Amino acid sequence: MAVNPRDRIIDTYRAEHRDLRDNLLALIEAFKARDKRKIRPLIKAVDEAGGPHMRCEEEAIYPALDKYYMDNQLEHLLTEHDLIIATLRKLYQLIERGPLSDDDARVAELHIRCVLTHVTDCDGALLLVELLSDRKAGRMTLTTVRTV
Ligand SMILES: [Fe+2]
Ligand SMILES: [Fe+2]
Repeated sequence: MAVNPRDRIIDTYRAEHRDLRDNLLALIEAFKARDKRKIRPLIKAVDEAGGPHMRCEEEAIYPALDKYYMDNQLEHLLTEHDLIIATLRKLYQLIERGPLSDDDARVAELHIRCVLTHVTDCDGALLLVELLSDRKAGRMTLTTVRTV
């Protein structure tokens, strides 16, 4: 595990992005197979990991990167978080409604791939975290909810 706060932040968020990526890709496959027994725990895993992850980004990571982003770009990232929450709600609804059709699987795939794009964009923001001073990175670890 990395020693300085900046590297610890990068390692933690990168590991979470990897988990989200893997679960989202598995979720696409589960929807394609219309396998609800696999879909349900995967949605739950993305939901449970994604909530605190996004909250920490909103409270600590994105604000610390404000000098690298325009306001509207930061707003865009926040809007994408709202869309991710809406997507998860939509996916829960899809599986509660009854048997999944081919159309449902395609709609789910489209939404999940949008979430995946946010995850990869978000991981790219870690390139900017590399530029933060030790002091700023140290302060960020105090504002994150988790122990990074
Ligand atoms: Fe992220
Ligand atoms: Fe994010």
